[in-house]
Amino acid sequence: MDRKRIGILTSGGDCPGLNAVLRAASRAAENLGWELIGFHDGFEGLLAPDEFTVLDRKATSGIMHLGGTMIGTVNRGQFVKRGGARQPSFIPAEILGKTRQTFQNLGLHALIVVGGDGSLNTALQLHKAGLPVVGVPKTIDNDLEATAMTFGFDSAVECVASSLDRLHTTASSHKRVMVLEVMGRHAGWIALHGGLAGGADIILIPEIPFDFEKITQEILRRDRVGAKCTMVVVAEGATPKSGRQSRHHTASGENRLGGIGEIVGREIGERTGKEVRTCVLGHLQRGGAPTMLDRILGTTFGVKAVQLIAEGKFGSMVSFNNYETHDVPIAQAVHKPRRVDPNSQIVKMARAVEIVFGD
Ligand code: F6P
Repeated sequence: MDRKRIGILTSGGDCPGLNAVLRAASRAAENLGWELIGFHDGFEGLLAPDEFTVLDRKATSGIMHLGGTMIGTVNRGQFVKRGGARQPSFIPAEILGKTRQTFQNLGLHALIVVGGDGSLNTALQLHKAGLPVVGVPKTIDNDLEATAMTFGFDSAVECVASSLDRLHTTASSHKRVMVLEVMGRHAGWIALHGGLAGGADIILIPEIPFDFEKITQEILRRDRVGAKCTMVVVAEGATPKSGRQSRHHTASGENRLGGIGEIVGREIGERTGKEVRTCVLGHLQRGGAPTMLDRILGTTFGVKAVQLIAEGKFGSMVSFNNYETHDVPIAQAVHKPRRVDPNSQIVKMARAVEIVFGD
């Protein structure tokens, strides 16, 4: 039998379900008589070709329920060079040359890249440079085009909803307004689904700019009808109609989303005179065990990625639509982010159960 060697790497922010992908890809590869090796720390591992881990059945046994990724990840590194303001990033020629060398030295038949939009963009560039690559979509934000769902999202939603359950009991005991800031970058999926599942009263998402006055009126209305508390979920990318996204400037020069929860909480307190508490859920949404759905999605995606290699469908990505896996060109997944449509059924349904978006 032709014993092929294929590689896999996990890149960008980690998320629950990555280990399920590794385990499934390992088994699918072994069933074809192939060897799977895992490069460490995302694309960087391609530059340290002696340090890979052989992902055989033994190495990947008992990992499906673990959060994170057993082979590590990074979300910045030598594969991304900024081409200047508004210019797409690119892989420097020297790094591309070293990657080609790694493929040759290791006799690599193909590479599976498990990542979000940035990492899939890098995968696309490798493919365009002639390297045999397939993609597996990953992000808690669920903001990738060409797939209805990514693994990691359900675990993040579960974290938001169960946190709301906890916050609810303390908020109603004290008759407070509770503001919960959640992740999601420029998309409101986590806030919308987590808020719906956790019984939020107000959900603020980037796709629907909000008005502080509308939020104030809703809280005062709820007071008048005897509501014990008001639960507000704010996506980190949510934007007031009269303002801009809130960002933290870090010492390393990064410009990270965050801080809108505190702003919303302060405004509500000042405008309503009510007691308000704010909670930022942060990386709790990315950590811990994957939900059952994410274990199944991760497993399905891992198997499909190996199948795509067997079929020679390089430059394609696993996608999930109508409860089935398919393949799409990676280019289709990264051309623009998938965001919540303010006129979609789910937003209308949320409004029908009296959720207020502050617009
Ligand atoms: O893309 C996933 C995500 O968790 C976003 O929701 C969030 O804005 C970002 O990554 C946080 O990144 P980091 O782990 O680098 O702080």
